[in-house]
Amino acid sequence: MSDSTFRTAVVRTPGGPESIEVIEVPVVEPGPGEIRVRIAAASVNPVDLGVAEGFFHGMGLINQPERTGLGWDFAGTVVATGPGVDLAVGTEVAGLVAGFDRDFGTYAELIVVPAADVAVVPDGLDLIEAATVPLNGLTAAQILDLLGSPAADGNRLLVTGAAGAVGGYLLSLASDRGWRVTGLARADDEEFVRGLGADFIGHAEPGWDAVADAAALQERSLALVRDGGAFVGVRPGSEPAVERGITVAAVSVHADGPQLGQLLARTAAGELPARVQAVLRLDQAADAHRAVAKGGVRGRYVLRP
Ligand SMILES: NC(=O)c1ccc[n+]([C@@H]2O[C@H](COP(=O)([O-])OP(=O)(O)OC[C@H]3O[C@@H](n4cnc5c(N)ncnc54)[C@H](OP(=O)(O)O)[C@@H]3O)[C@@H](O)[C@H]2O)c1
Repeated sequence: MSDSTFRTAVVRTPGGPESIEVIEVPVVEPGPGEIRVRIAAASVNPVDLGVAEGFFHGMGLINQPERTGLGWDFAGTVVATGPGVDLAVGTEVAGLVAGFDRDFGTYAELIVVPAADVAVVPDGLDLIEAATVPLNGLTAAQILDLLGSPAADGNRLLVTGAAGAVGGYLLSLASDRGWRVTGLARADDEEFVRGLGADFIGHAEPGWDAVADAAALQERSLALVRDGGAFVGVRPGSEPAVERGITVAAVSVHADGPQLGQLLARTAAGELPARVQAVLRLDQAADAHRAVAKGGVRGRYVLRP
């Protein structure tokens, strides 16, 4: 990083991990309400693999002339503030950059974001762990917002992909909202699921009051919901068709500083999982993508720019 440029990992022509390049781009000044953060850690999420592969370009969700930025969440230190920002330079923050169609991302040494989109990282939570929280913690919390409160006649919630990042947060957070939670996961994940206070199953029969579909099983998960129950998926725009009076929705995660602040506080208190698989350098982003693509990874790969 020079004074006027910084390094970031991007894709120009998407084609999988091999298409990830680390390039130098100009430093951007924060505008009103914005901050510039020196990124200490950025997690590698399934969505990033889809961007690098061109999956979202193919869906028409990305239309960048030069390059597409990689990475949705980060933790780091505020290094500059625009007008109207209360956060002091030197404050440790974590945040989410949502949305596909952008030429910048969190796989970078620096990022400029709205101050409203970040939360202060509490004492006792290191930045590597903090970087694993925003995307998947907020997604789980917003899935629960979409589900609403359980109906009076039934509170049995099934979480598919329960040992994944979104799934793990769902298991931890759903009981606060009055759900009796069961995690559907692979046999090896039973200890993790039960450790978060949920029931475990390796195979689900139909009849659940609600299903939170963190494994993106779509129609197969909808079939597990009872008549008149609720389904929330993770593929907005590709929700399964409504059937049998079931309420069908899909989350599209958005930044929410206050909601993230609560998630970080609960992570610092040990109430939410903070799972780090490995820490790699920015120029090893392609290696991290290859490792995640193999499946079975529990905990995030985190890039340290
Ligand atoms: N719409 C949004 O705003 C939004 C936001 C965040 C995430 N997402 C999506 O949400 C999904 C979950 O994300 P994540 O980060 O939690 O992924 P993850 O950590 O990879 O977790 C997915 C979990 O589902 C399990 N799984 C997949 N297929 C399964 C099957 N047939 N049976 C049993 N378990 C199965 C995986 O197990 P194995 O590893 O053993 O396969 C893994 O434990 C992803 O599709 C992601 O793209 C959407």
